[in-house]
Amino acid sequence: MDKFRILGGKRLHGSVAISGAKNSALPCLAAALLTPETVTLRNVPYVRDLITMRRLLEDLGATVLVPELRTHRINAGTVEHYEAPYELVKTMRASVLALGPLVARFGEARVSLPGGCAIGQRPIDLHLMALEKLGATVEMQNGVIVAKAERLRGADVTFEIVTVTGTENVMMAAALANGVTRIFNAACEPEITDLAELLTKMGAHIEGAGTPTMTITGVDALGGAEHTIIPDRIETGTFIVAAAITGGELEITQCNPTHLMAVIDKLRAVGVEIEQPDERTLRVSVRGKLQARDVTTAVHPGFPTDMQAQYMALMTQAEGDAVVTEMIFENRFMHASELQRLGARIRVHGHSAYVHGPTPLTGAQLIASDLRASASLVLAGLAAEGETWIDRVYHIDRGYEKIEEKLRTVGAEIERVKN
Ligand code: EPZ
Repeated sequence: MDKFRILGGKRLHGSVAISGAKNSALPCLAAALLTPETVTLRNVPYVRDLITMRRLLEDLGATVLVPELRTHRINAGTVEHYEAPYELVKTMRASVLALGPLVARFGEARVSLPGGCAIGQRPIDLHLMALEKLGATVEMQNGVIVAKAERLRGADVTFEIVTVTGTENVMMAAALANGVTRIFNAACEPEITDLAELLTKMGAHIEGAGTPTMTITGVDALGGAEHTIIPDRIETGTFIVAAAITGGELEITQCNPTHLMAVIDKLRAVGVEIEQPDERTLRVSVRGKLQARDVTTAVHPGFPTDMQAQYMALMTQAEGDAVVTEMIFENRFMHASELQRLGARIRVHGHSAYVHGPTPLTGAQLIASDLRASASLVLAGLAAEGETWIDRVYHIDRGYEKIEEKLRTVGAEIERVKN
């Protein structure tokens, strides 16, 4: 397993370009299953989860051409299997995004029930409830979800909890259903809007994407399309924190600041200087001391749970006590104990972590547990005095494109050590 070796204490300086959004590219690749025509996606990030999704599509019988590293040309005209196998689903629960498109187009889908992961149980009961509302029968056979339908029919679907991939599954299923589907309490993340844009280009009729109520009028068939994936708002937030935690100055390009205003507002309140010279660029620097500020994660447009771990790392360097409250997942503080090994003063109690700062961090040997926790450890390592080793960096490779190379180009002393 690869490790990162970081020699901390270097202020970052320079310019870094943001890659495409992993959590938009995943549903967009799955959406290609809805049509026998070719779907071309650009700005697909070169990360492990997308390699996994590409393998899943190929396992189902689709062809995926990659004419250049970040362009995927998918044709699902040759799909002849309808099962997402366990060995793929266990490595990436977003494989569940194959469920909606397969049932909608082929009347059948078999997806191994994804297990939990480090941040929580991650059930998919709401996905299954919604598909049943659309007329599918859903059974469990030996750990595999089997969903079948002659033809899905439009219906009202209300999510008692906002679910991002649950909303995405219903959007894709409803696009080919017979009749009108209304989704209440739909997720409003930018990735939802991006998927709706692709589906609309493919011929779907969707209104209200990005708001809590979406209306989808099903059509008999969808066609091919070309689409460019939005920038990754969480990678953007991660690099803003990287500049702040090292006391450096970064220009962050090819981003979309409107997708992470809650993060930008919070970091400005902490004392991070964030300017926006144009609509796709941010300039980040720190003048003076950082002030501790509480944060509570929420669904979009609130402060995203995927930035909680990175923010906690920054609070170890801020003046005062910050209460970091996680309201989306039940076990998303795995990074706290690793940060404590660097010297951070954090006390976890229920949904909240109490961070006292500033505390000088000194390098240590750490183990990554999940994607965003890994990012948090890298950020803390950049600020720690001395050498930090992070094991199991495959977690970070799932969602960040060559993070060590991007960090090195702006002055970090970080290298990947292959085992
Ligand atoms: C998506 O996961 C993202 N993944 C996650 O990003 C992100 O943290 C999460 O949304 C929240 O924003 C992708 O988009 C591929 P949810 P998802 O369904 O859809 C509960 C990352 O780091 N729930 O919105 O799986 C669930 O347990 C990843 O890039 C049910 O109870 O999350 C959680 O508490 C991590 N039943 C809450 O809802 C269900 O059927 C929100 O989960 C579905 C969800």
